[in-house]
Amino acid sequence: MEWIRVADEPHKLIDRVLADNVISDEGLTLLREGMVVRGRHIPMLRRQGIEMIPVGSYAPVLDQIDQKFHEHYPRFADTYKRQFGELKSCFSKIQQGDKADLDNAIAMFTELAEEALESVNLFEVLQQMHGHNEYTYRHSIHVGLLGALVGKLMKWPSDQIVRIGHAGLLHDIGKIRISNAIIDKPDKLTPVEFAEIKKHCELGHELLINYMDAHEDLLDGTLYHHERMDGSGYPFGLMSGDIPDIAQVLGVVDVFDAVSSDRAYHRKSSPLAALGVVISEVYQGKLSAKYGLPFIQYMLDAYTGSTVILSDGRVAQVVRIQMEEVENPLIRLNDQVVSLRSLKDVEILDVLDQASKKAIGGMTS
Ligand SMILES: [Fe+2]
Ligand SMILES: [Fe+2]
Repeated sequence: MEWIRVADEPHKLIDRVLADNVISDEGLTLLREGMVVRGRHIPMLRRQGIEMIPVGSYAPVLDQIDQKFHEHYPRFADTYKRQFGELKSCFSKIQQGDKADLDNAIAMFTELAEEALESVNLFEVLQQMHGHNEYTYRHSIHVGLLGALVGKLMKWPSDQIVRIGHAGLLHDIGKIRISNAIIDKPDKLTPVEFAEIKKHCELGHELLINYMDAHEDLLDGTLYHHERMDGSGYPFGLMSGDIPDIAQVLGVVDVFDAVSSDRAYHRKSSPLAALGVVISEVYQGKLSAKYGLPFIQYMLDAYTGSTVILSDGRVAQVVRIQMEEVENPLIRLNDQVVSLRSLKDVEILDVLDQASKKAIGGMTS
């Protein structure tokens, strides 16, 4: 159990399980032990003058999916859960040296990606997942979905969109051959540990060859997703023209998802920070501009108009975001449009999903 100050570290509360009831000064139970704290609870806790609350671990990924998506996207939530279970079972079978049906795992993903691209606000899905438990499966699914999204934005033919989804789903499979002590280490890796992590691209490539009749795109995605356009990547330090397109796309969305998750786990920074990192790596010539820019534009459009919780507990609406200053959008707050920059030490804490928006009502007006 950990006590968190609502005013100082609200980002550390979201999606964690309450370790005790939260009681108001008047003796009313505001939140019950065992409940999961959501972004929309923060304004209420601040209004009630609650200073500290006790929380345990992050809610399991599948509980988060259920709570956030079951009402509005029931089919997507069910398919996501099945995909998650299938991937987990395949990875653990391989880890134990047993046979695993990777072809089945990727076949299922085709259905998930179709639902996500057709009927779900993908931005909402990716925005709303917090915590580090079972990160590998969640990250794999999200990189697959985002990869497919970029394929769609680029108007690729549908079979190619499906393949990039599959490649994203399996891009980090090599990590199952690397010690958990390194994979799960929350602190900065030592140079020796980092060298070990870097092996996951080649190990994954080898696993795909051994476990399935993998399409060349899947092999390329796994082997080259950490190569960078300026030659600074690994394992081979390839330059732009030598990096297959599928790996260039995965490079962009992999960075985005990894930084988004990192934020939720231990850093204090806006959810827009992950987009800021992608933008700066595109400008530095590391990530592909061809695939990075349409992705960035999609995400900027998705954020625009969204309802957000600020770190001081207020609710605002994003009016406009400029690429040069992505973490300081123009926001509508109490009927005034201001730059987030003008609010000292305030940042965006969370983006409200449909269910939370409904629960919080017309607080933005
Ligand atoms: Fe990777
Ligand atoms: Fe990755």
